[in-house]
Amino acid sequence: MHSFRRYVFTLEIEFNIAFMTIGSSIDRLSQTESTNNYAAAQLMTKRPNEGAVFVADCQTVGRGQINNFWESEPGKNLTFSFVIYPEFLRIDRQFEISKAVSLGVADFLSERVDRVRIKWPNDLYVENRKIAGILIENSIRMGKISSCIVGIGLNINQQKFLSDAPNPVSLAMLTGGEYDLVDLLEKLLLKIDARYQQLKSGLTHPIDSDYLSCLYRYQEWAHYRMNDEVFEGKIKGVDEIGRLMIENRQQNTLTFHFKEVAFCK
Ligand code: BTN
Repeated sequence: MHSFRRYVFTLEIEFNIAFMTIGSSIDRLSQTESTNNYAAAQLMTKRPNEGAVFVADCQTVGRGQINNFWESEPGKNLTFSFVIYPEFLRIDRQFEISKAVSLGVADFLSERVDRVRIKWPNDLYVENRKIAGILIENSIRMGKISSCIVGIGLNINQQKFLSDAPNPVSLAMLTGGEYDLVDLLEKLLLKIDARYQQLKSGLTHPIDSDYLSCLYRYQEWAHYRMNDEVFEGKIKGVDEIGRLMIENRQQNTLTFHFKEVAFCK
């Protein structure tokens, strides 16, 4: 890149970082149980600034969805949480946070690898392999989302996964080489912040349509399991409260809350 353009580009990044919400402060921890727990403990005693990030080299009890353990080799990946106060969102629209954040991660990944997909509700996949997971924990007070902790685990430099997590993968496994975690975190936060600003300014249309464009198995026939029954269906979208809509071969549209339906291979 021409040196003047590089200079402008660097200034642009610095300008964005200075004005962004997500990443307005970054606390680095060498070890903690779980960055979501750490953020929750902070919220008990004070009100961290909106967008405050807590990032750990090592989580001793990293938490995944439905009480699963989140595997991450110390110092190899991004494991962090941030706090937001989305009081502008109705509580029945909480799923918009999930969409905006997963899209921010997808935007970041798509600049580095092809075929990035969001597997409903908010897992990040590259083809059939999971590269990142998101754990969102909301506090509701007086009918409003008073605070929200967003935890993200993104596999970057890890080469081997030991747990029985389904088909994990890292950026380095896909592209080769090794990444600088400090630099990547900054770039990732910029992408998440851009989507959060869209959400805050009421621009839900691009968020909704980009989410669908990125949705794993959208409009494709595939097999799903409901209770003990396997059926063939096509994902038609996600309703306003975040339920997955699947049309079956009888042309009935079924809606599912998280864990009411499983994706078959
Ligand atoms: C999932 O099961 O897909 C969600 C995984 C979320 C993992 C991240 S790592 C940082 C934050 N702290 C945690 O304990 N969990 C989340």
